[in-house]
Amino acid sequence: MANYLVTGAAGFIGARTSELLMEQGHTVVGIDNINDAYDPRMKEYRLKKLMAKPGFKFHKRDISEKSVVEVFKGEKIDGVINLAARAGVRFSVENPWVFLESNVMGTLNMLEVCKEYGCKKFILASTSSIYGENPPYPTPETASSSEPMQPYAASKKGAEALAHSYHHLYDIDVTILRFFTVYGPAGRPDLAMLRFVQWILEGKPVRINGDGNQSRGFTYIDDIARGTIAALKPVGYEIINLGGHEVISINELVSLTEELTGKKAVVEYGPPNLADMLTNQADVSKARQMLGWEPQFNLRQGMKNLIDWYMAERDWAKDILTP
Ligand SMILES: NC(=O)c1ccc[n+]([C@@H]2O[C@H](COP(=O)([O-])OP(=O)(O)OC[C@H]3O[C@@H](n4cnc5c(N)ncnc54)[C@H](O)[C@@H]3O)[C@@H](O)[C@H]2O)c1
Repeated sequence: MANYLVTGAAGFIGARTSELLMEQGHTVVGIDNINDAYDPRMKEYRLKKLMAKPGFKFHKRDISEKSVVEVFKGEKIDGVINLAARAGVRFSVENPWVFLESNVMGTLNMLEVCKEYGCKKFILASTSSIYGENPPYPTPETASSSEPMQPYAASKKGAEALAHSYHHLYDIDVTILRFFTVYGPAGRPDLAMLRFVQWILEGKPVRINGDGNQSRGFTYIDDIARGTIAALKPVGYEIINLGGHEVISINELVSLTEELTGKKAVVEYGPPNLADMLTNQADVSKARQMLGWEPQFNLRQGMKNLIDWYMAERDWAKDILTP
């Protein structure tokens, strides 16, 4: 059994990936700075569940600090799964600096961990946002990623390029995973799914940027975590889309949430956000072919799981900040 370093372990994808790794009998060294990019109570909740497991060790550190590399001295690491990042296109327009620090410097430091301590596998979380304004839909990995539209996407492009240089120089096996929109229990409170569930169930207005006809390819968290683990296999250097197989408009998502919660939404439409894409949809044939990855959860089942989770945790989840 192996020992994996998971960065962003208290994050949405990092926590579930860590859980699944431990269920498979591996041990996990997690690192996260528990920043306040969104309500840290959600990160503490995920971390508490991980800390209760015997195969989990945790460091509360910032991966953008160069000295963080020393933390892992003497640790046998079989693979680094670099999920820690500042995420989200809109906030990256307001404060691009934190994106550059966490996403580029942070990735560099984690590549240094591989180089310094002989770890030969590196997974980097990248994003569908990297495909720019008018990619073909569904979008294959070969679509251009040279015209990022926001600092977030640009920072991920920088991270991908650094990973390639370390692959070339130090023979580190790299899988870049370009995630599309992910949702599920204990998901990010800055993304539509959890916000809509909370707003509708608590009778708060459902705020939508634009007319709600913009669409997203959504994928359930467990499918993403499984795909991330499958990506640990040796590939050389590969970029693989993961997720975004089921496309739904924001208005349809509201209707589905209304149906599954049995409550009517009060929708307020606002101006569109210029940093947002109108749609995204992944071509996931490479993930199927290279990783044998097949999504197992459809949108209805995944949304039901999210709503069930919310109802079970409602005492505190109703107060989670969903600005
Ligand atoms: N969730 C999605 O829909 C989605 C889509 C595309 C790409 N991604 C990428 O997947 C990865 C995981 O995303 P997520 O949804 O789990 O996000 P998340 O924000 O829930 O998790 C990221 C975690 O990293 C931590 N972190 C951030 N900067 C750090 C730093 N400098 N040092 C230490 N820890 C730091 C945060 O505290 C957080 O817990 C990110 O790289 C993100 O860019 C996610």
